[in-house]
Amino acid sequence: MLGLVLILAESRTAFASREFHKGKRNHGGVKCGRKHSAVLTDFGGVGDGITSNTKAFKAAVDHLSRFASDGGAQLIVPPGKWLTGSFNLTSHFTLFLHKDAVILGSQDESEWPLVALLPSYGKGRDFPDARFSSLIFGTNLTDVVITGNNGTIDGQGEPWWIKYRAHQLNATRPYLIEIMYSDKIQISNLTLINSPSWFVHPIYCSNIIVQGLTILAPVTSPNTDGIDPDSCTNMRIEDCFIVSGDDCIAVKSGWDQYGIKFGKPTKKLVIRRLTCISPDSATIALGSEMSGGIQDVRIEDITALSTQSGIRIKSARGRGGYVKDIFARRMTLKTMKYVFWMTGSYGSHPDQGFNPNAVPDVDRINYRDIVAENVTYSARLEGISGDPFKGICISNTTIKLTETPKKLQWNCTNVAGVTSNVTPKTCDMLPEKEGKVFDCPFPKNRLSIEDVPLKTCSLD
Ligand SMILES: *[C@@H]1O[C@H](CO)[C@@H](O)[C@H](O)[C@H]1NC(C)=O
Ligand SMILES: *[C@@H]1O[C@H](CO)[C@@H](O)[C@H](O)[C@H]1NC(C)=O
Ligand SMILES: *[C@@H]1O[C@H](CO)[C@@H](O)[C@H](O)[C@H]1NC(C)=O
Ligand SMILES: *[C@@H]1O[C@H](CO)[C@@H](O)[C@H](O)[C@H]1NC(C)=O
Ligand SMILES: *[C@@H]1O[C@H](CO)[C@@H](O)[C@H](O)[C@H]1NC(C)=O
Ligand SMILES: *[C@@H]1O[C@H](CO)[C@@H](O)[C@H](O)[C@H]1NC(C)=O
Ligand SMILES: *[C@@H]1O[C@H](CO)[C@@H](O)[C@H](O)[C@H]1NC(C)=O
Ligand SMILES: *[C@@H]1O[C@H](CO)[C@@H](O)[C@H](O)[C@H]1NC(C)=O
Repeated sequence: MLGLVLILAESRTAFASREFHKGKRNHGGVKCGRKHSAVLTDFGGVGDGITSNTKAFKAAVDHLSRFASDGGAQLIVPPGKWLTGSFNLTSHFTLFLHKDAVILGSQDESEWPLVALLPSYGKGRDFPDARFSSLIFGTNLTDVVITGNNGTIDGQGEPWWIKYRAHQLNATRPYLIEIMYSDKIQISNLTLINSPSWFVHPIYCSNIIVQGLTILAPVTSPNTDGIDPDSCTNMRIEDCFIVSGDDCIAVKSGWDQYGIKFGKPTKKLVIRRLTCISPDSATIALGSEMSGGIQDVRIEDITALSTQSGIRIKSARGRGGYVKDIFARRMTLKTMKYVFWMTGSYGSHPDQGFNPNAVPDVDRINYRDIVAENVTYSARLEGISGDPFKGICISNTTIKLTETPKKLQWNCTNVAGVTSNVTPKTCDMLPEKEGKVFDCPFPKNRLSIEDVPLKTCSLD
């Protein structure tokens, strides 16, 4: 039986590649505005959920990379279940998944090569000396689109979570999609499930659009952050629905002395129309790795349900860097432990080489137009002694509490700022001036990334 399947698969492959090499272009019924096109089956891909397609993906991308300077290329993943280990992308390239295409992450560790540690982290996050390549990886690229008709990429993360918890891994777990040192990246219209660790990790990139992702992982799964913009400039995240075991979005920029030395901030980031469910984590975290700095983040139209906190700033002595010019408006939150949370004692250092005198500059943090209900604590705001988190502004915020609310609703230490029209009453460090109603600022200008159109594919 197996033999027959193999023979069939082989003859199908031979036929498909003969067609391909005759020069016939196989659009797979999809047009993404690239001059060249191929379907995964042209390279021996088998969508049975059992056969490894690692070689097929590699052969396809290697072949299509030749067209980078000749109109670019698209690779179509047709309906089926396409098991694969890590594979790399190329420039001027679209990876398109049909709505019934499922890319399955291999559970065989040997299908996941090790890649260099991230210079701004110095160490692997789970395991210091090594890290696995992400399932879909790209570095030093330009003009890449990963999209689909809401097709699925399933990391099959469970064995990784088990091994991680049992300390059986000797490298940091892979992410689902990681793009490094790249420009003009779009990741859109996909369902991503069960990543071994973080889902989408652009790092040292610029001009990135993440749109229309449904990201799903068990709320108990370890470190399954949704989207982690890391040392990136000009990025827009919109229309995403995320259920995960860690922060729905975690904005980062390197870890302690390594991040300070690398010195690449995350700047000019827009996050809008996000829905998040994450009972033990934040809707949007800023940090904890923020040593290269985080500045000019604009957040709007956010919904969170059964989530630990709204926006959470996480830092510590040793991080250095900064978190400044953060603007958020129109957040609707239901069943939250904290609406506002800032932590100045996050801990978790790469090694003992961090500088305890390197403290973060947290300043100009602006939140407005927030409605929350069924809340346990309105705020837990903890700066650093001798390094207060300052310039905090909160306006037009209505927080309704749980049936049995905690007594200390605004727990403030080492913070400074102002509030207007906030209930329940805030702490003395964030005074509300009698008779003076104002709105906290939100920028009126647009970032250039907001005006970049989405690239779409059309079906024949
Ligand atoms: C992808 O590219 C990186 C960097 O060039 C390399 O280290 C890695 O081995 C490649 N991965 C695969 C699966 O070929
Ligand atoms: C990618 O770009 C970075 C930064 O410019 C450079 O240090 C690195 O060597 C490049 N890597 C490759 C594989 O070209
Ligand atoms: C995204 O996928 C949906 C569902 O398959 C489809 O209807 C829609 O046209 C796609 N949107 C874009 C922008 O490609
Ligand atoms: C994509 O699929 C997910 C999971 O099935 C679904 O919840 C979501 O609504 C779909 N998105 C679009 C744009 O069709
Ligand atoms: C990696 O970890 C596994 C399981 O703990 C172990 O069997 C293997 O020898 C380790 N490999 C290396 C290179 O350390
Ligand atoms: C309110 O929050 C509590 C947890 O603090 C939860 O158990 C309860 O179901 C929530 N109630 C509603 C009506 O959502
Ligand atoms: C206060 O916030 C609510 C909820 O976002 C909004 O509907 C309302 O217009 C805001 N009020 C003012 C005066 O901006
Ligand atoms: C107030 O916040 C501090 C610092 O985060 C914490 O240690 C303390 O337990 C909190 N107190 C209450 C009563 O929640």
